[in-house]
Amino acid sequence: MKFFLDTANIEYIREAASLGLIEGVTTNPSLISKEDKPFKDIIQEICKIVNGPISAEVTASDSKGMIEEALKLSEIHENVVIKVPITKDGLKAVKELSTKGVKTNVTLIFSATQALLAAKAGASYVSPFVGRLDDISTEGMNLVAEIQQIYRNYLFETEVIIASIRNPVHVLQSALMGADIATVPYDVLMKLIDHPLTNIGIENFLRDWKKVENKEI
Ligand code: G3P
Repeated sequence: MKFFLDTANIEYIREAASLGLIEGVTTNPSLISKEDKPFKDIIQEICKIVNGPISAEVTASDSKGMIEEALKLSEIHENVVIKVPITKDGLKAVKELSTKGVKTNVTLIFSATQALLAAKAGASYVSPFVGRLDDISTEGMNLVAEIQQIYRNYLFETEVIIASIRNPVHVLQSALMGADIATVPYDVLMKLIDHPLTNIGIENFLRDWKKVENKEI
């Protein structure tokens, strides 16, 4: 399973990249709004740090506007993937962009049939939002299983990015399901490293190490 980082924060991206864990980055307008830098500069900087797919989202609501924005964003770097919401105009834009060879990530997916349409339109990636489904008492990971089944049935090459991940259990479930990609917020990534027994183990080793007289290596 590939790990993408779900953030537009450059420091988080640098830190996660230094761990060798990050193979791509996903952003959205809300994540961009948290940073105090121009959109284009943020995407440019991310592309310098991570050599993998970097999702940048269009904000126009009509297909013509989406395509115009997408083409400008694609000029920033060859790794830029255009994030497009699943709407009628979004699908038109994805179809057009895929014929032009521009990679797309169809976002705000909340049903398996939306994911089916996105794949048929030629999406490179789809992003089901599992956490937001959990928020309304619907099992988000069930959606992922349905999408995986449909894509297997028809051999779609569209990759599934599990998005709106809120906790380590989402990551565990994603990996157990053989997900293509999990896009994780920085705090969730850090939680994956931590375990209280690891910390207690280190403390005990260091306490005992003090008793060793000759520590030379
Ligand atoms: O990349 C979009 C997605 O991951 C949003 O997550 O937590 O705002 O539902 P969240």
